[in-house]
Amino acid sequence: MTILVQEEVAPRIFKLTLQGKLVEEMETPGQFLHIKVPRADLLLRRPISINAIDQATETCQIIYRIEGDGTKAFSELTPGMQLDVLGPLGNGFDLSKIKSNDVVYLIGGGIGVPPLYELSRQLKEIGAIPVHFFGFASQSVMYDKELFEALGVCHWATDDGSFGMKGHVGMLLDQVVTETPETPAAVFACGNKGMLQTVDERYRNHPNAQLSHEARMACGMGACYGCVCHVVGDETGTKSVKVCDEGPVFPAGKVVI
Ligand code: FES
Repeated sequence: MTILVQEEVAPRIFKLTLQGKLVEEMETPGQFLHIKVPRADLLLRRPISINAIDQATETCQIIYRIEGDGTKAFSELTPGMQLDVLGPLGNGFDLSKIKSNDVVYLIGGGIGVPPLYELSRQLKEIGAIPVHFFGFASQSVMYDKELFEALGVCHWATDDGSFGMKGHVGMLLDQVVTETPETPAAVFACGNKGMLQTVDERYRNHPNAQLSHEARMACGMGACYGCVCHVVGDETGTKSVKVCDEGPVFPAGKVVI
């Protein structure tokens, strides 16, 4: 794919706009791209979730944070350069049960927020009502606030209290749900382990709660077993799922977090 735009949306957090025929395959929010690092000494691809899809212009966007040499190399790419991209991979969020006027909770934290943008956009297309609950470390690392606010109500929390409620997403849910009790038709979440545990505990009996899990990946296509997670209720410890090709999205209550 060709890089059209590279933009630093917050310190060490970048948004890349990519163009190519591969976009025709991208439909489901929550899937990811497996991208070759443009450095000969770094062999493993990096899995990065799809943030936005635009079929009309054959473009998509991804958002990543610099975590190491691979993502640092991504941040040095400039418009016009080519990237070796595999995808879209994995099973994303299932919207088949969502109807017009359904209230849907989207819960995200930090660098888990990006795939929820395409999800929210598609929910709006169906006529559903997305309500966003997002947590960040501080205001300085927030991004795309206006884009989400254009799609629906947003509730914000920051660990240091620099924007929105002081605290984490679980506290934000406690506060908002107490003030405006409503039963969402679906709950979709993506974020770090602690946030997913909170959402999983809260919504594990909900009929349509889906969590996008993180895992270290190598092949990204189900071949290496590098991304396995245990299944809830498996006392033998032998049952597992592969996050890359069976997930990354699983129903709440299915996977040990
Ligand atoms: Fe290889 Fe999932 S990363 S099986």
